[in-house]
Amino acid sequence: MSLKAVVTGGGSGIGLAAAQALAGRGMTVACLDLNPPGEPFVGIKADVTDDAQVRAAVAEAAERLGGIDVLVNNAGIGAQGTIEDNPDSEWHKVFDVNVLGMVRVARAALPYLRRSEHAAIVNTCSIAATAGLPQRALYSATKGAVLSLTLAMAADHIREGIRVNCVNPGTADTPWVGRLLDAADDPEAERAALNARQPMGRLVTAEEVAAAIAYLASPDSASTTGTALAVDGGMQGLRLRPAN
Ligand SMILES: NC(=O)c1ccc[n+]([C@@H]2O[C@H](COP(=O)([O-])OP(=O)(O)OC[C@H]3O[C@@H](n4cnc5c(N)ncnc54)[C@H](O)[C@@H]3O)[C@@H](O)[C@H]2O)c1
Repeated sequence: MSLKAVVTGGGSGIGLAAAQALAGRGMTVACLDLNPPGEPFVGIKADVTDDAQVRAAVAEAAERLGGIDVLVNNAGIGAQGTIEDNPDSEWHKVFDVNVLGMVRVARAALPYLRRSEHAAIVNTCSIAATAGLPQRALYSATKGAVLSLTLAMAADHIREGIRVNCVNPGTADTPWVGRLLDAADDPEAERAALNARQPMGRLVTAEEVAAAIAYLASPDSASTTGTALAVDGGMQGLRLRPAN
């Protein structure tokens, strides 16, 4: 019987690629998003900052899929600047989406996951959780919280048979990064700088992150819980000498 998966932020970028990768593994997939995709996915419009919408959307996904085995908590937004640049309202907003959004969706999905033989949650974290990046104070704080939340949830739910892991992408070539580049004074120079920051010299692809998500979501990783899988072109672990 095919596994059933819910992907938040499944309308774009890494989430959409994850939905495609899970479908490629034979799963049926519901995408929760402000702008959900259509066929072949079950698209459900929901804002992860609204608990009532989340509960209704998760119940609808379980109903239409016939249960939930896999949750990919991926919806997220960015923020730029140092701690001097973002007002309290923006701190609350970004934490509300990036951290509490995962809490709300997972909380609503737990009753269904507990009934699954292959329950797994995969959170989309970031290189920003484990490396200090300039001009990303607020965003990095949310992803640090996601990393710790992943470990705590893995401990809380291991005896219920629910695995919890996260992926830590480096800068990935998604519509999000496209918007950042478009907003830069010199988009080509900005892209070159982002490429150069990756030891592999290029951005990560959404499909590469999606393949890691699909692995952690699938029974292939049945003994893996409480881990963070870097998909970052070597950015976290390597220290290269200059090329010449
Ligand atoms: N692109 C990168 O370089 C990169 C690197 C590391 C981590 N990430 C993480 O990957 C995840 C996906 O990013 P992406 O680059 O694919 O971005 P994206 O902007 O292409 O896609 C994000 C999706 O989330 C949805 N979304 C945003 N707010 C929502 C809300 N309140 N409720 C429901 N859906 C909402 C958007 O509608 C969009 O479809 C994020 O958690 C991000 O922090 C991205």
